[in-house]
Amino acid sequence: MIAAADFNITRVERSKLNEMTLENIPFGKYFTDHMLEVDFEDGEWKTVEIKPYQPLLLSPSLAALHYGQAIFEGIKAYKNQLGEAQIFRPFENFKRFNISAERMQMPQIPEEIFMEGMRLLVELDQNWIPQQEDHSLYIRPFMFSSDELIGVRPSDKYKFMIILSPTGPYYSAPMRIYVEEKYVRAVPGGVGYAKAAGNYGGAMFATAQAKKKGYDQVLWTDAYEHKYVQECGTMNVFFIIGDRAITPDIESGTILAGVTRDTTITLLREMGFKVEERPISIDDIVDAYNAGILYEVFGTGTAATISMIKELRYKDFVMNFDVDKWQTAPAIKKAMTDIKEGKVEDVHGWMTRVSS
Ligand code: COI
Repeated sequence: MIAAADFNITRVERSKLNEMTLENIPFGKYFTDHMLEVDFEDGEWKTVEIKPYQPLLLSPSLAALHYGQAIFEGIKAYKNQLGEAQIFRPFENFKRFNISAERMQMPQIPEEIFMEGMRLLVELDQNWIPQQEDHSLYIRPFMFSSDELIGVRPSDKYKFMIILSPTGPYYSAPMRIYVEEKYVRAVPGGVGYAKAAGNYGGAMFATAQAKKKGYDQVLWTDAYEHKYVQECGTMNVFFIIGDRAITPDIESGTILAGVTRDTTITLLREMGFKVEERPISIDDIVDAYNAGILYEVFGTGTAATISMIKELRYKDFVMNFDVDKWQTAPAIKKAMTDIKEGKVEDVHGWMTRVSS
């Protein structure tokens, strides 16, 4: 077990924060003063270094660049009403990270490195947590294979890192979504449930095609029939139909078990919705729309939080929504934000304090 004493901390001499503002900051473009780096070699994790944010020196034969053993997570930190830094449900991301690692034949990361390392790093850079509406400190843990060898086999060496990015909204406006029927994101037996870097690279072509048609993102459908919906862009998706909230189930292994998805399910149930996690077909969605009972469609994700969908296009059929009249998605977003910012009691125990 790695105790706090095994973390080696080197601080910057002068914070970059002196030269910049955290107001109206875009998603993922700026990084804080420090980063965490630890190598896996000879079957064990070495000393954890927390040090000034800096470029990596990597060999062109780095295995991850060739065969894609690379996984990541997304987590957010906020300040509560007393100005104390808190992280939203980080243990869920820690568990999912190791699920991704297993699927990609990568080593498990010990809880102490992931959780205590993240805590120490966020504590060190807590002045970087923006307090403007829809802003937060985005935490990006990631791991990649670091053998310098282009033979195809699982690497012997890996690097785990955490970087921090003060960040504004991911999607700033309600979205237009294209229901994808040609390209697929995931198949049963594949890596769809893992937060593998390649899942995101593999999605870019279809997303670019949808963008050319004027859409923001695609709604992925299943690989066999293009009938059942999966994820929406980088988000899980919810449909409010009558008094029910329906979201695709995660049983087939094609969908990422989102932490914001899980949070949304809990909050919807507390608001009185019957929540169904089950396969939902695009035909069911069209039928509900035509019957006038498809009230709201929204995506959930760490980066995106809750993103309303104002248009859904399936073949030549366009479903439009008057998002200004919606009540549920805004209520879920507010309930979640109030917990994250410490405006209401954290009855679920979702917030992890950074300093004791
Ligand atoms: C997240 O929601 O944290 C994601 O990982 C989505 C994206 C920024 C890759």
